[in-house]
Amino acid sequence: MSTWTSVAEARKESAIGPDVEIRGWVRTRRDSKGGFSFIEVNDGSCFGSLQIVAPGELSNYESEIKRLGAGCSIVAIGRLAASPAKGQATEMQADEIRVLGWADGETYPLQKKRHSFEKLREWAHLRPRTNTFGAVMRVRDSISRSTHDFFHDEGFFYLNTPIITASDCEGAGEMFRVTTLDLDRLAASGKPVNHELDFFDRPAYLTVSGQLNAETYATALGRVYTFGPTFRAENSNTSRHLAEFWMVEPEAAFFDLSDNMALAERYLKRLLRDCLDRCDEDMQFFNQRIQPGILDRLTAVAEAPFRHMTYTDAIEVLEKADAKFEYPVSWGVDLQAEHERYLTEQYVDGPVILTDYPSTIKPFYMRLSDDEKTVAAMDVLVPGVGEIIGGSQREERLDVLTRRMDQAGLNQDDYWWYIDLRRYGTVPHAGFGLGLERVVQYVSGMANIRDVIPFPRTPGNAEF
Ligand code: 4AD
Repeated sequence: MSTWTSVAEARKESAIGPDVEIRGWVRTRRDSKGGFSFIEVNDGSCFGSLQIVAPGELSNYESEIKRLGAGCSIVAIGRLAASPAKGQATEMQADEIRVLGWADGETYPLQKKRHSFEKLREWAHLRPRTNTFGAVMRVRDSISRSTHDFFHDEGFFYLNTPIITASDCEGAGEMFRVTTLDLDRLAASGKPVNHELDFFDRPAYLTVSGQLNAETYATALGRVYTFGPTFRAENSNTSRHLAEFWMVEPEAAFFDLSDNMALAERYLKRLLRDCLDRCDEDMQFFNQRIQPGILDRLTAVAEAPFRHMTYTDAIEVLEKADAKFEYPVSWGVDLQAEHERYLTEQYVDGPVILTDYPSTIKPFYMRLSDDEKTVAAMDVLVPGVGEIIGGSQREERLDVLTRRMDQAGLNQDDYWWYIDLRRYGTVPHAGFGLGLERVVQYVSGMANIRDVIPFPRTPGNAEF
């Protein structure tokens, strides 16, 4: 009886022995003049492949083994031995190889030559079989796993907030409408839209953030976090925006802005340390092929304290900078990618937490400071990616919150339940949102956000 072993395990010397079974996909086959073949097999469990030596004596050697090529799926059974070849601890001497599925070498898109990431997006169903996407997805998994570990270690409860909602948390009007009404037909008929006939009796949307719902549970359970898909109908075709992305949103009662910043820093450092420990081979690959030097940089970031700066100080730095910006800088403007890049790559060369933004460029729920001009906001910016975390201390004072909602043109009736939290046992509280894909970009060095999510949703792209 053979024992099914993952390639990750089989590549370790501890797995050496007879009757090992490997199941996976062929990467390459090379025939030796000595009448046997080397087959590289990967099963996704790790970056590397296992070399399988197929002797010419196998009964299907001529009929099948010599036809194997990239993409074929096989089962190989044999003895795992120490490998004489450089760069691998073990290899398998196969006693039996069964072909499960053929892949026609003429049409299989993933040929040995390197394909551009743009091209690979057209094969979103097959790109996970490439080295790069395997590595990206294992790192993404590590970050998700560390997220749950970290927040549980910090006493947070995992909360599921709704995907369908009536409220626009960010107030930016970037929501996807969810409706059972045939809006096209109604428009063509000229009849007004009657929301009372709609599924939810009111306009409903896909959520842009679980924060408002998370606040209700933070003011009951103390510390909660959400981790789910988030939707933004912003028509931005950039390398860091998706229409559907995953956001981690902790929310904690009795936290102020500095507690919030400290939490964000501990969290990010944990994510980095875990990736460096757990995904060594994948990280080595990113270091060699995607962004040279990234290993040293991330290792340093995981150790050193993050720099803090107020928005006002950042504007001063940018105004004095000897760089040419496309968008001019002055107090009150929203920072653009080029400004974030200057601050994190030229000025600090590492992560920066910017705080105390003008109230006019931030949402209604952020706590107004005594100067009445700024809010207790914090954004974490990192080199290469820009903003990966946005958060704040929340406005817990009823009168200030309702005033800010009026100023933002929001209808208080739509948010009555949110306002109630300030009416009944209000407490200071704070939280933030971290974009999962932006962190994966930061850790892997991948330039485009479309290449760190399995099936990217961007304007015009929802095929797979
Ligand atoms: O700054 P944002 O819009 O904050 C919120 O939604 C808050 N309600 C979060 C909270 O305090 N609970 O988004 C938070 C993060 C950003 O820093 C960014 O990393 C990511 O979400 N993000 C996006 N990621 C990919 N594509 C987009 N279109 C994104 N928009 C925001």
